[in-house]
Amino acid sequence: MKISVIGAGYVGLTTAACLAQIGHEVFCSESDLDKLTKLQGGGMPIFEPHLEEVIKAVRKAERLRFGSTDEAIAWGDAIFICVGTPPLPNGDADLHAIEAVARSIAKRASGYRLIIEKSTVPVQTGAQLRKHLSVHSTNGLRYDVASNPEFLREGTSVEDFLHPDRIVIGVDSPRAADMLREIYEPITKQEFVCPIHSDCPKRKAPIFLATDTNSAELIKHASNSFLAMKISFINMVANLCEVVGADVTKVAEGMGLDPRIGAAFLNPGIGFGGFCFPKDVQAFIRIAEKSGCDFSLLKEVEKINQRRVEHFVEQVRNELWVLRGKKIAVWGLAFKPNTDDVRFAPSIALVKSLVDEGANVRAYDPEAMGKAKSVLPNITYCSNPYEAAEGADALLIVTEWDEFRNVDWERLRSTVERPLILDGRNALNAAEAASHGFHYFSVGRPPVLPGQAGSAAIGASAFVGADIRKESF
Ligand code: UDX
Repeated sequence: MKISVIGAGYVGLTTAACLAQIGHEVFCSESDLDKLTKLQGGGMPIFEPHLEEVIKAVRKAERLRFGSTDEAIAWGDAIFICVGTPPLPNGDADLHAIEAVARSIAKRASGYRLIIEKSTVPVQTGAQLRKHLSVHSTNGLRYDVASNPEFLREGTSVEDFLHPDRIVIGVDSPRAADMLREIYEPITKQEFVCPIHSDCPKRKAPIFLATDTNSAELIKHASNSFLAMKISFINMVANLCEVVGADVTKVAEGMGLDPRIGAAFLNPGIGFGGFCFPKDVQAFIRIAEKSGCDFSLLKEVEKINQRRVEHFVEQVRNELWVLRGKKIAVWGLAFKPNTDDVRFAPSIALVKSLVDEGANVRAYDPEAMGKAKSVLPNITYCSNPYEAAEGADALLIVTEWDEFRNVDWERLRSTVERPLILDGRNALNAAEAASHGFHYFSVGRPPVLPGQAGSAAIGASAFVGADIRKESF
């Protein structure tokens, strides 16, 4: 099918590339001319595993083109709207880009088009789109509007698009439903050349859920808010574990064995970030408010998340006493591994708070330093983790990149001034850290000190009852 994708951000670029990968003829437009020129020149505006290779391959096969919005509007029988819906100061989603695209479509498109909202939008946006298109249509446009929320995660977006758990569509006509079924058929049948797994095993076909537009729009906000709630829940449990001397990893494991709870998204840490959870929780609170519902539960989820960084900085102060003049190494700036994205990353608030207290921060991230420099100008960026740890009074783990898990302990031990690690993502191996002379503090687990490596290996529960903190450095 001839498909257009308007907007080449994470969602648009992945959608365009993967729809071309499964066989469609795709035209992707971008209004940011620098980004468009980069894409037309074969460059990538974002770091996303597998995406560059997919784009290269489908462009070579002439199944993907980049160009202007007008060209995209003229091209596709189906038009996916994937423009940004950033948060407004009051927490509402900013829909002006969606409205602008709708107006262009109404003015320029003729004949039948299926217009599909894929950006994360508040409930009833589809209804607004329908009205807006009919008001501004001047070129004989006949159309259906559908909702098709995406659930892809940064860092695994290509895999999530091609091997989803479910495909959700919100439609108000059989024609729209049939077109979307046809668009996704290679994925629902898992019949496509997989760019990730050479021996891509026949996977479980995703559920294809067709519903009305309002429900589809709500599924997106509700899903992200629920996942954010799970994270805030386990972060509160982690705080409790720190006080009573329990091990949150064990608690999460025990909880997650119940399929009604599930183990996913029960990793405690310094809070959720990224361009989705924080803004989607805010937007959902606002949507509810405007509908007369006080979603106090989500307000707590947000508050708990906002307190994570301060809780972590307090632990740093507990160990370093005065932060002024201290050398602090920060490993990880991206909001999560396998992405270069620092939008709403906990690292931003954390580093700002350390710098405000006069600490001298040396940071390293495998991918995100370029993007971090514009928001964190007053720190030292290093070319590798050990350079960042040079002469450090403390090492903070902020993003759980695999590179950090494979740390060369000997080298690190000889590099730091003080063998002190505060792991905000429970990423490192406590026993190994202690066996190399480090004092190791993490989230929701008792600290592990040199000489306790053995007991660390058998699990923190061995410490229950003992007030370990008194023994810290
Ligand atoms: C999220 C949703 O997962 C995805 O379905 C949706 O389409 C977009 O938003 P993304 O923002 O890419 O995806 O990241 P995700 O992997 O969900 O992580 C979000 C944040 O939560 C990250 O900061 C991550 O570090 C944090 N997180 C995640 C935790 O703190 N604990 C967990 O157990 C899982």
